[in-house]
Amino acid sequence: MVRPYSLLKALLFAATASASAIISARQDDNHWVSTWTSMPQLVEPNNLPPAPFTGGSQFNAATLRQTLHMTLSAPRIRIQISNTFGTTDLPITAASIANPVNNAAGVGSIDTASLKKLTFNGKDSITIPRGTVAYTDPIDFPIKPQQNIAVSLYLASGQSGNQITGHPGSRTTSWMQSGNHINAANVSGGKTVHWYFISVVEAWTPKATSALVILGDSITDGRGSDDDKNNRWPDLLLAKFIKNGITTIAINNQAAGGNCVLSQCLGPSLLSRYKRDALDQQGVKYVMIFEGVNDIGNGGTDSGSQQRIGDQLISAFTQISRDAKAKGLKVFAATITPLGTGYTGGSREQTRQRVNQWILQQAGGIFDAVIDFDKIVRDPSNASKLARAYDGSGDGLHPNVAGFQAIADAFPLNIFNVTPGTPTTSTSTTATGSTTTSTTTFVPTSTVSTPTSSPTPTVSPGGTLPKYSQCAGNGWQGSGFCVDGTVCNKLNDWYSQCL
Ligand SMILES: *[C@@H]1O[C@H](CO)[C@@H](O)[C@H](O)[C@H]1NC(C)=O
Ligand SMILES: *[C@@H]1O[C@H](CO)[C@@H](O)[C@H](O)[C@H]1NC(C)=O
Repeated sequence: MVRPYSLLKALLFAATASASAIISARQDDNHWVSTWTSMPQLVEPNNLPPAPFTGGSQFNAATLRQTLHMTLSAPRIRIQISNTFGTTDLPITAASIANPVNNAAGVGSIDTASLKKLTFNGKDSITIPRGTVAYTDPIDFPIKPQQNIAVSLYLASGQSGNQITGHPGSRTTSWMQSGNHINAANVSGGKTVHWYFISVVEAWTPKATSALVILGDSITDGRGSDDDKNNRWPDLLLAKFIKNGITTIAINNQAAGGNCVLSQCLGPSLLSRYKRDALDQQGVKYVMIFEGVNDIGNGGTDSGSQQRIGDQLISAFTQISRDAKAKGLKVFAATITPLGTGYTGGSREQTRQRVNQWILQQAGGIFDAVIDFDKIVRDPSNASKLARAYDGSGDGLHPNVAGFQAIADAFPLNIFNVTPGTPTTSTSTTATGSTTTSTTTFVPTSTVSTPTSSPTPTVSPGGTLPKYSQCAGNGWQGSGFCVDGTVCNKLNDWYSQCL
């Protein structure tokens, strides 16, 4: 509802923007809301920037340009730059913001007419001490849902050492070039599909605006989606919001591949991160938990180990919900989707079923709402498997874009305390949230014969299996999923390999 008084203030503000009394009056009616997030984590050695932007320091004398996908409308934003996991100072020499050409994600080219300088406490530069974050000064840079923005950072001396904060699972191409090119039309010296340093974009919006924070793993991080297309399931949910006139809820994707609830697998455990990533986000009102498959799948297959993991997941979810509710937030949970070829074994499926039964029973109790993601994507003829149509990579765990679309389609909107406005069409100038995106089809049994030399199946933390390692097969005792860029290829009933 628009109060006449607010409208009058808005009109007055437009007419006399410099009047400080009116600015403070306007500020009373607005707050910061996170409109985009990327879960901050310590970047693993193999996800550091490509040469020559790595070495003794990262991004030494280089410009990094990254595109970020907005979820709210706002006239003004600010950007959080994170050195949360860095062990040295992060010195940013200069920064800028612009619209990427054609509102495209993952491009190095910008519309220079939109270019603006970003400052820190009025200065061009800032040194962010290790373990801390910094904000740019607020900047008048209008955004809309599904708009991509391009943020460029120049680091004259890089961040020394190799411990830096980033988000490897960006599914979005970042560009880099030696020298200061923050104002250049195109940054094109190198590229990689990871994000670094930027962890939040906040929007200055009316008090009625809030954020939904999704805590998750690779399925929410978008493994199975297409690079530079923003078609992870939360992106497709955003498209549904827009289609249904819901414009006052931001979606914050706080998920990472290989992430575990209970212990540190890839990235910090959910128990160690939920306060920072969810409860402390600006403007958060809804917290959703969709995690646990990596805990079950990395745990022992014996019933004792699995009993303990199931119990601990239940108590972790209970704790997160209790803490969120203590802050006045609404909490949603999703059931854990099928384990897939890399994780199935022993008592693990029983744990998944037990935890899911518990989650479903908490609707209206520990959780304000529960969404049965498992039911949405599982095979109707075998409840322990991912539906074949959604099994794009063939690993039985990561849904493809059709699976992500099924989740978005089934996602209820009446769990939010909002009255939808006028349905609108997409505000994006490029097609996002498309359901027609082609996806990788299931790779059937290969004709390749069993390799003569059997590779050692070394399992790195988080159950990520390196290229060439075994990933499935009768009698295989291991667990985990093939590293990004490879898929689990069945060679015969006894041997499948990450290729
Ligand atoms: C930017 O550089 C890339 C890589 O060199 C090139 O492919 C692209 O065409 C350039 N874009 C523009 C708009 O110049
Ligand atoms: C269901 O799928 C699981 C996992 O692939 C398999 O072990 C089980 O035999 C299947 N059950 C039926 C009834 O097909």
